[in-house]
Amino acid sequence: MNRTIVGIDVGTTKICTLVAEVHDTGKVNILGVGLTPSKGLDKGVVVNIDEAVNAIATSVEKAERLSGYRIGTAYVGIAGRHISSLNSRGVVAISRPDHEITRTDVARAVEAAQAIAIPTQREVIHVIPRAYIVDGHEGIRDPVGMAGYRLEVETHIVTGEVMAIQNLIKSVERAGVGIDDLVLQPLASGAAVLTEEDKNRGVVLVDIGGGTTDIAIFIGGGIWHTVVLPIGGAHFTNDLVYVLHTPHNTAEYLKLKYGSASPTETIPEELDGIDTDTFSPGERQQVSRQLLNEILLSRAEQLIEMIGAEIRRSGYEGLLPAGIVLTGGSAQLPGLEELTRDLLGMPVRIGVPGNLTGLAEAIDSPPYATGVGLVRWGLRHGLTTTSGHPISEQSQGNWKQTYDRFKMWLREFLP
Ligand SMILES: Nc1ncnc2c1ncn2[C@@H]1O[C@H](COP(=O)(O)OP(=O)(O)OP(=O)(O)O)[C@@H](O)[C@H]1O
Ligand SMILES: [Mg+2]
Repeated sequence: MNRTIVGIDVGTTKICTLVAEVHDTGKVNILGVGLTPSKGLDKGVVVNIDEAVNAIATSVEKAERLSGYRIGTAYVGIAGRHISSLNSRGVVAISRPDHEITRTDVARAVEAAQAIAIPTQREVIHVIPRAYIVDGHEGIRDPVGMAGYRLEVETHIVTGEVMAIQNLIKSVERAGVGIDDLVLQPLASGAAVLTEEDKNRGVVLVDIGGGTTDIAIFIGGGIWHTVVLPIGGAHFTNDLVYVLHTPHNTAEYLKLKYGSASPTETIPEELDGIDTDTFSPGERQQVSRQLLNEILLSRAEQLIEMIGAEIRRSGYEGLLPAGIVLTGGSAQLPGLEELTRDLLGMPVRIGVPGNLTGLAEAIDSPPYATGVGLVRWGLRHGLTTTSGHPISEQSQGNWKQTYDRFKMWLREFLP
């Protein structure tokens, strides 16, 4: 069955709205892309609602115009330092006389896993069942129909600050779009760039964007660890502003045109000088490419060290044979892939969203991993509804209603 799914990646650098026609077989046909520079966000979090609403509305309008669809609801990515996650186990007894496990038992077990103390200023974003244990037998992916006395579920629970969540919801809703679901950005990116084999073997997804670096660790097909680090491409650019004394736009231009984090690259003297502007109008200066790259290299080393520390902190360091998949706009910095491999001693590759048709060539690169992943998330975990309508129809979504549909959503989660 074909249906339409919309994903909105509210990033720190850009807002990207995708309208896609999807099929149960996993086919994703991109009908519309609405790309606009982000406003009103800092390190992945909405800090100015009016600016964010305008930017989101512009991106949505562009995608509507291109696709000929009126967007009613969308899957929306969430990130920011306020996100935290934990693993929790839920246990229930199977009371039916024949001891057959039903979907209701699974839902009860997942609910039991949520019986943890969550501070009042925090809200649950995801409760993701990872694996089930029936009468002590571990690693069961779908217990429905099995017989047993005791059902346990291992879940990954992601929470965020109520205010940060509400500000994002408000911004999207004020831009005229209801929310199908909020999806943690690294989980969305993972849905776009990781293979089933990566996730089964053990892999670290690292999405290095403009404001944040989002990490998700998958093992045995399930999600075990998620974290959002408040460092991204903007820090690389800001370092250039401070050390080279160039305006921000110039620093960003220099980074994209000449930047590299390759530790072995040496620039021949005759190619080293770049003529650029300064903070004083009309005044020019020569900037050294070698120095430019040293600045980027030292920030890259710091970020990779933080990623390594996070992998060690997770406790799953030895369980990740598929290594690290880097994605997000900043993963495109030349030399970063090799540097990560050298510093962390793990296999590293750049993850690009694939298996797309339609306007695929516009978005088959790392910055669009989250946007494409939101659509894939909707296809895999969403209700079988459509979130786009041919222009002339209008639909309004409601976040609370969506949240109340959790149990139906859970049903979709089971393999
Ligand atoms: N070739 C490149 N080399 C280095 N950096 C790059 C390159 N291309 C893009 N970037 C950087 O990628 C960043 C934007 O990435 P992306 O579009 O993934 O961010 P975002 O999703 O808006 O932000 P976030 O996910 O952090 O909220 C910018 O800082 C930009 O400078
Ligand atoms: Mg991003």
